[in-house]
Amino acid sequence: MPAQTQPTPALGLDLQPRLSRRGLLGAALLVPLAAGAGGISSALAATPRARVVSTPIRLDSNENPYGPSPAARQAILASVTETPRYADAALVELAAAVAAKHSVAPSQIIIGTGSGEVLKIAGLLAAEGAGGELVAARPTYEELPVFAAKMGVQTRWTSPDTQHRHDLQAMHEAIGEQTRAVYVCNPNNPTGTALSKAALERFIRSVPASTLVIVDEAYIDLADDPEVGSMIDLVRDCPSLVVLRTFSKIHGLAGLRIGYGVAGPALAARMNSKQISFPNVAGMRAAIASLGDHHFLAETYTALVTDRRRIHSALDGLGRPRTHSQGNFVFVDTGMPHATFSGRMLARNIKVGRHFDGYDSWARITIGTRPEVDRLLEALPGALGA
Ligand SMILES: Cc1ncc(COP(=O)(O)O)c(C=O)c1O
Repeated sequence: MPAQTQPTPALGLDLQPRLSRRGLLGAALLVPLAAGAGGISSALAATPRARVVSTPIRLDSNENPYGPSPAARQAILASVTETPRYADAALVELAAAVAAKHSVAPSQIIIGTGSGEVLKIAGLLAAEGAGGELVAARPTYEELPVFAAKMGVQTRWTSPDTQHRHDLQAMHEAIGEQTRAVYVCNPNNPTGTALSKAALERFIRSVPASTLVIVDEAYIDLADDPEVGSMIDLVRDCPSLVVLRTFSKIHGLAGLRIGYGVAGPALAARMNSKQISFPNVAGMRAAIASLGDHHFLAETYTALVTDRRRIHSALDGLGRPRTHSQGNFVFVDTGMPHATFSGRMLARNIKVGRHFDGYDSWARITIGTRPEVDRLLEALPGALGA
């Protein structure tokens, strides 16, 4: 259940009507390459205002519009020669590259068709033995709870604390005899809030050793709070901990469906034995290349974090309560029903994220490209006006 994924219209450029079918194919290949050649700055230049005119600006699904990186774009094209074959070699190389990044052994990596697959594998483990339960905090990313329910695992939900973070004390108290797994999304989707590294580590160490702990770090690359940090090092000490990452966010490869988990060797072997699908070669080659494209990753981080701060201060100026988001999105109390706010934004040609239960007047807004954020900032005062 990637966040409200919908098909993106092909490039959304207004030159489309003037091009033949063959011309369109050419444009589809050339524009991304041209954008990739000069990094984010030329990607910005290649983001025509025409896109804004022809289709709504998509600030609804927490994608990274700057991706893929220039190196990943080249790798996708080069992977064409590998497409007749099953992608075993790429899988081995990707696991090795990810393992090297995190200083663990390749046997500790679970590659998935998106981190969504790794969440589902965790759901399969939680479903072993009848009557198991999952503990999770609402609102959160619900791919695991939804899948677990299909496997017969019910979720025991806890409420957020006053700062819209997971309430770790409440989560601890919710763990009982039947608990097979605990899900922590850090930073959390949709609130964007993150737990401190120290508090999360204390919590994980307090969970019974037989209980699977899943820490979803899909957005951790975008955290700028020095208190926030990854739990990957903790897999050395905690054999029932798995930490999830994805290539869908800072790497900008959501459409190619690559994610992974890092765990101790025994848990990783158990999870790999439950693999549901096999990742595609273009995605894996792009992921390997993207891991090495440090310039792109640094530029993307700076662009998105700078724009997150711009949007946060605009919302503060407008007097709207918001969370301290650490993701590539902001979460704001608009002061009106979600449908009213999203309708007002759509009238201004901007699509924002969906409604979340218990947060009826709140909206999640993804951080787009710099021109898209400029448009958002122009639109907000009118849309939020009484
Ligand atoms: C917190 C979180 N985890 C996992 C995912 C799934 O990501 P993917 O399957 O694209 O790796 C998402 C997608 O939006 C997410 O927000």
